[in-house]
Amino acid sequence: MKFDQPATLNPIDRGRVIGIAHDRIDGPAKVTGTAPYAYERHDVAPNAAYGWIVGSAIAKGSISAIDTRAAEAAPGVFAVVTHENAGPLGKGEMNTAHLLGGPRIEHFDQALALVVAGTLEQARDAARLVRIDYAREEGQFELAAEKDKAVKPPVSWGTQPDSAAGDFDAGFASAAVKIDRTYTTPDHSHAMMEPHASTAAWLGGRLTLWTSNQMIAWAVKELALTLKMKPEDIHVMSPYIGGGFGSKLFLRADAVLAALGARAAGRPVKVAIARPQIPNNTTHRPATIQRIRIGADKNGVIDAIGHEVWSGDLPGGGIESAAMQTRLLYGGKNRMTAHRLAVLDLPEGNAMRAPGEAVGLLALEVAMDELAEKCGVDPVELRIRNDVQYDPEVGPKRPFSSRKLIECLRQGADRFGWSKRNPKPGQVRDGHWLVGMGVAAAFRNNIASKSGARVSVDGKGQVTVETDMTDIGTGSYTIIAQTAAEMLGVAMEAVTVRLGDSKYPVSAGSGGQWGGNSSTAGVYAACMVLRGILAQKAGFNAEDAEFEDGMIKAAGKAIPLKQAAGRDGASAEDKIEFGDLSKRYAQATFGAHFCEVGVDMHTGETRVRRMGGAFAAGRILNPKAARSQVIGAMAMGVGAALMEELTVDTRFGYFVNHDMAEYQVPVHADIPEQDVLFVDELDDKSSPMKAKGVGELGICGAGAAVANAIYNACGVRIRDYPLTLDKVI
Ligand code: MOS
Repeated sequence: MKFDQPATLNPIDRGRVIGIAHDRIDGPAKVTGTAPYAYERHDVAPNAAYGWIVGSAIAKGSISAIDTRAAEAAPGVFAVVTHENAGPLGKGEMNTAHLLGGPRIEHFDQALALVVAGTLEQARDAARLVRIDYAREEGQFELAAEKDKAVKPPVSWGTQPDSAAGDFDAGFASAAVKIDRTYTTPDHSHAMMEPHASTAAWLGGRLTLWTSNQMIAWAVKELALTLKMKPEDIHVMSPYIGGGFGSKLFLRADAVLAALGARAAGRPVKVAIARPQIPNNTTHRPATIQRIRIGADKNGVIDAIGHEVWSGDLPGGGIESAAMQTRLLYGGKNRMTAHRLAVLDLPEGNAMRAPGEAVGLLALEVAMDELAEKCGVDPVELRIRNDVQYDPEVGPKRPFSSRKLIECLRQGADRFGWSKRNPKPGQVRDGHWLVGMGVAAAFRNNIASKSGARVSVDGKGQVTVETDMTDIGTGSYTIIAQTAAEMLGVAMEAVTVRLGDSKYPVSAGSGGQWGGNSSTAGVYAACMVLRGILAQKAGFNAEDAEFEDGMIKAAGKAIPLKQAAGRDGASAEDKIEFGDLSKRYAQATFGAHFCEVGVDMHTGETRVRRMGGAFAAGRILNPKAARSQVIGAMAMGVGAALMEELTVDTRFGYFVNHDMAEYQVPVHADIPEQDVLFVDELDDKSSPMKAKGVGELGICGAGAAVANAIYNACGVRIRDYPLTLDKVI
């Protein structure tokens, strides 16, 4: 099904199952420990051996000698895989560094060997016996020091590094009120619960891989490139995933080394990247330096807005696109954005939840708070004054498909009690706490991506959906079941959803908050074809047929679905393909975050007291799952504001705090109260579902609301994240 015209009234609009809060259908399997995760496939690979990764102890250079003899002779060891014996390997297109390094070493903890043994302890023990001699080279590890050497990067992921409209320099120079500030954000780690993990098994020349990966089709393609195999000889399964946040968008060392280890050991092998290896071996969100300049009139109406971003990555890597929201969020006729990329020899940077906006808004939305104060305008009102209903770089000929930022700001402010805020910092006290409130806008791009599915009804009226879509803890199983139940007029209990298998039709996968809307639209497309088949079998006109209560109804007659399907059942496969609507209309999701903090007068410690947010993201397919996404993302925003930071050892080029003890993330107790409101919205240009993404919106701007609340509480403005007590005091 080609989606190139705005959606009209369709079966989803009935809203009997879609749009209703529904518990996760995969929940019971997860909480009873029966959901098969990649490292636990005892059922299908009962005799699997264990692999342990040996990572590089230097950041840059080469291996001068590697001696595996002692490891190979250790108890229980089946094989030691290194670049010397792994056979010819290619390289995927999506990872910057090689997943098995050597002799060149591109970053600290890059995998250089895999030890395979009968038990995990034997593998880990023998890994210590692998002797590697290094020829170490000097590297560049500090973004601030490399900033001036940063260059304009090529277009990546369809993103132009620069944009401009009007004359920024002239507009800024002549503005009545000016803000010119620089903000910095550190490297972040995804810190998802389940580590990267894979179990691999070979049957002849064919590879079966149970793994934890957000994008099944990408994984197959990248494995084929890396292992120099035909994609049709690779079977990837990832039915359950314990979190991803972008860390599992791309193939990582666990998958490649499990495959190589299994080949070398002649038996299935499982590999998990150990928690202390994750931050340096895998990807992270790159640090940024961001300069924001805003020129406005005395009433805070923006005339000129500029956002420059510097970030770094390994040679051949990409940018942290932190200026993207600044192209679309506020009006103003004179505009510029620019991204500059420095070469750093740190571990590989890449996407982490809301890449770009998550840290871009930590800068932009604080700059807006600074502008509000300078103009003496309420920060909610300032944002409303600068709302724009079209792409401000292009003009009114490219309107937003839907944009309810003003509604989010107004409704969110009401619910939060914003009117009680004292605009003057440092005025409100509660014992030894200085109390303040902050607001920030939320903005996240909305991407729609081709997505396929197969839907079947069997002779008993049971519906099965198959698609290679993944569920990274977001609720994909549930919203896909809801979509099929709505489309075919059956109860949720009559629907089985099978995900995360490369044998199923290729879906959009889970990333960039495109998965929910795109994958359900793909299921919608397949259901439309199936409805036609079933109606015809029932002897009805497809257009007249109603699907409800397990029946197909038309012309005063009703035939049970199972009867129409017949003993052999009926099945249909289709995919949604998106035309140029997203070029004709700017598409994004919006929201407003509100936060109240207390700052300890004596220690500078910040405690979030409560948060509230209002969000507009098209049709909310399942309000319970969507709320869970948003509150989790808001918590991640609090982490970025207050505690999350990978600390770089600038001498040796690695992240020092590479475990969950020292990489701090918020827990439930850190945010005692969270309120989420979804503003009514249907987006007929996003898909037949009229939904948009919501999985990443909640992190966007949340941290800036915390920062602005700290300023309101105590009058201290810090522009260097995280806003730890040593900086506040
Ligand atoms: Mo997301 S960072 O595209 O999983």
